[in-house]
Amino acid sequence: MPNMVIKGLGNYIPEKVYDNAYFESIVDTNDEWITRRTGIKERHIAADNEYTTDLATNAAKAAIADAGITPEEIDLVLLATVTPDYFTPCCACVVQDRVGAVNAAAFDFNAACSSFITGMVMAEQFIKNGTYKNILLVCADVLSKVADYKDRATCVLFGDAAGAAVLSADDNAAGVLASELGADGTGSMYITSLAVKEDPEEIEKRVSGRKETVWMAGQAVMKFAVKTMADATNRVLEKAGLTYDDIKLVIPHQANYRIVDSALNRMGIEKDKVMLTLEKYGNTSASCIPSALTEAVREGRIERGDKVAIVGFGGGLTWGAAVFEY
Ligand code: UT7
Repeated sequence: MPNMVIKGLGNYIPEKVYDNAYFESIVDTNDEWITRRTGIKERHIAADNEYTTDLATNAAKAAIADAGITPEEIDLVLLATVTPDYFTPCCACVVQDRVGAVNAAAFDFNAACSSFITGMVMAEQFIKNGTYKNILLVCADVLSKVADYKDRATCVLFGDAAGAAVLSADDNAAGVLASELGADGTGSMYITSLAVKEDPEEIEKRVSGRKETVWMAGQAVMKFAVKTMADATNRVLEKAGLTYDDIKLVIPHQANYRIVDSALNRMGIEKDKVMLTLEKYGNTSASCIPSALTEAVREGRIERGDKVAIVGFGGGLTWGAAVFEY
């Protein structure tokens, strides 16, 4: 049975930057509050005419180039987003066309910020059972298009980005050593972004009163996140028979520095083993992990053979954790 390896990685970060001073100019906030409560200094924002499929295509092309395969060799395009260009077509089909993955099946899925790990676990099934050899997994979002820029509690958190990986069959690699996915639908209304259902109660919660914005019960999500991140990572390490000493780098979902810090304390690991991109990009949803992974490799913080732990949580509520050999 082949194992699944990350053959190539890529990310795309839009050019425009909103720093904390920008938010001071639009809502009642300040750099000190945002820095102390979140750790975020800047976020990159898509241009007016730049959408999820545009960011996704750029990250996907970079990952394919990094993998050293041709687009025709891709068997499946999996794309995760909570900000699709359209309900239909799915973003995966648009990206399939734009990168020239003419032989690939394609579909979108949504496990919010846990999507990269969810996508890896899905891809692993197709690869291990021999259905596919090369899968392009892309996570992309333009949260700036749905942020409520009248709600200081949420708008300061989000940025736009895309991260992609080519996941391939390899008979000799160790690949994914253990993984876990989970959901807790009792918290489903803690993070909401509305679609076709008429829901006046939800619209009422939005400071702007605009249906097409994201709303979040920040504190409730934060409590869930701290516990879930540490517990899920501990469980996958145990399943793999490893300890934190075996792990070169932990890459968590980048939502809030305080969440990461509390989770690290629960895990009992040092900060220098953690990859953080939060300060410069903010929370970019599912792309946080693949984008940070791309940069960790680029910066030489991970090399082939190193063991890496990734852990995410988000809307749904969902979570996922995995440990793999890069
Ligand atoms: O990726 C999806 C998952 N999402 C997350 O992980 C987000 C999880 N939650 C969080 O990161 C935090 O809950 C937030 C950063 C969103 C908020 O931090 P908090 O420490 O939970 O603050 P809070 O909501 O309890 O608000 C404390 C105070 C309130 O004022 P009062 O009622 O104490 O007077 C807020 O109105 O801070 C106020 N506040 C702000 N003040 C200045 C909220 N947002 C701001 C702001 N600037 N931007």
